[in-house]
Amino acid sequence: MSASAFEGRVALVTGGGSGIGRAASQRLAADGNAVVVADLNEESAQHTVSLIEAAGGKALAVRADIASESDNVRMFDAGEDAFGGIDLAFLNAGMLQPYLPFDQVTNDMFDRVMGVNLRGTFLGLQQSLARLRPGGACVVTSSSAGMIGFAEAAAYSASKHGVVGLVRSAAAAFAARDLRVNAICPGMVLTPMNDFAGSDEVENADALSNPDYRGGLSAQHVAEVALFLLSQRAAGVNGQAQLVDAALLSSFPPLPT
Ligand SMILES: NC(=O)c1ccc[n+]([C@@H]2O[C@H](COP(=O)([O-])OP(=O)(O)OC[C@H]3O[C@@H](n4cnc5c(N)ncnc54)[C@H](O)[C@@H]3O)[C@@H](O)[C@H]2O)c1
Repeated sequence: MSASAFEGRVALVTGGGSGIGRAASQRLAADGNAVVVADLNEESAQHTVSLIEAAGGKALAVRADIASESDNVRMFDAGEDAFGGIDLAFLNAGMLQPYLPFDQVTNDMFDRVMGVNLRGTFLGLQQSLARLRPGGACVVTSSSAGMIGFAEAAAYSASKHGVVGLVRSAAAAFAARDLRVNAICPGMVLTPMNDFAGSDEVENADALSNPDYRGGLSAQHVAEVALFLLSQRAAGVNGQAQLVDAALLSSFPPLPT
C-alpha cells in the first residue's frame, strides 16, 4: 500500500518517546490512526514505533526539538509525506526544571523552560492551525502547575500557565478552520519525568482502575483524556483546560501533607 493511500486518521504526538506521549501514541495507533512519533530523543521515538508496529499499527519516528521552528515544520512535513496529511496533533513534549526556590531560578533556566514549554508549544500550535485537515483537533499538555503556582518550579509553572493562555486564545482561529484545541493539565504522573520507570504496556481503556485519591496517575490515565479530546466525542469542547489529577487540586489544603 502506498503511504498516501492510508485511509485512517493520522495523528502527530510530540514527546512520543516516553511517558504520556508514548502511551498516547500506542493508544492512537490501537484505535486505527497512523502516528507520527516526534521526540528530541530519536531512539525513544523509534522504540515507541516498534511497540506500535509489533501490535500491528502504523507509525513513523521523527527526531524533533519542539523549541526549533524548523523542526516543527519538518515533523509536519514528515507526517504529510508518509501518510498524506495530519488530522490530530497532541503537542505534549515538555521539560521540567530543577526544583529551586524562586530566587535561585537563573535567567538561562527560565529562558530554556519557556523556549521549550511555551514557545515550543506556540510553534506547534501555529503548524497545527495551518496544517491539520479540517475536522481535526489539537490537544496540548499543560499541568496542574498551569493552574496554581509551584514554589519550587516557578519557570515551569509560568510556562504551563502560558500554555493554557495560548489554547484559550487560539480557540477562535481553530474553530474558523473547523478545528478544535484544548489543554490537559495532569497532576502527578508516574513517568520518567518524575523518576518512575513508566511502562511499555497499555491496558484495555475500559478496564482502567481509578488512581488513589490525590495519588499518582499512570501515563495512560492522562493519555485517555487526550484521546477523548482529540475525538469527535468531544466535538463540543474547544478552548478548555481539563485537569487530569485524581482530585489533587480539588480541595483545601491545595496539596496533600
Ligand atoms: N509527569 C508528570 O507528573 C507531569 C505532570 C504534569 C504535566 N506533565 C507534562 O506532560 C508532558 C509529558 O511528560 P511525561 O511525564 O510523559 O515526561 P517524560 O519525561 O516521560 O516524556 C517527555 C518526552 O518529551 C521529550 N522531550 C523533551 N523535550 C523535548 C523537546 N524540546 N522536543 C521534543 N521532545 C522533547 C523527551 O525526550 C521525552 O521523551 C510534559 O509536557 C510534562 O511537562 C507531566
